[in-house]
Amino acid sequence: MKKVNLLLPLFSALCLVVLSISAEQATIGAEKCARICHKIQYDSWLKTRHAAVSPKVDCESCHGKGSDYARLHIMTDPDAAKAAGLVAKPAKASCTEKCHTTGFKEEMIKAVHEHKK
Ligand code: HEC
Repeated sequence: MKKVNLLLPLFSALCLVVLSISAEQATIGAEKCARICHKIQYDSWLKTRHAAVSPKVDCESCHGKGSDYARLHIMTDPDAAKAAGLVAKPAKASCTEKCHTTGFKEEMIKAVHEHKK
């Protein structure tokens, strides 16, 4: 009985550590997004102020950290990609909460990618 009393909290702690590690999504970097698939978006992003400021506002700042969705079989399945953290169409709030707290215009969302202007 004594052993069980000791082991249970240890086991619970271990589970929490494993869960928090596996839940963590990491960034992979804009260059990797370009290399895997998104050369057009990358080249057009390079021409924007988002690429010039420090720290850079890059793909994953808006679309979510890519470690879990970047693999092709996930990226090509919209539901799986979303579940793995991809924000395909970033919402206005993601612009206005941190950065564009004033002066945000609706058309800025559509104009975010130079190649679509
Ligand atoms: C400042 C935020 C922001 C950044 C930085 C950003 N995106 Fe986007 N992206 C958006 C928004 C918002 C949309 C949806 C635009 C629309 O509705 O027309 C979008 C759309 C897209 C799409 C949909 C298809 C297309 O071409 O529009 C792809 C793919 C994409 N982004 C990839 C990328 C990649 C790759 C990077 C980095 C090189 C990147 N994005 C950087 C906000 C961003």
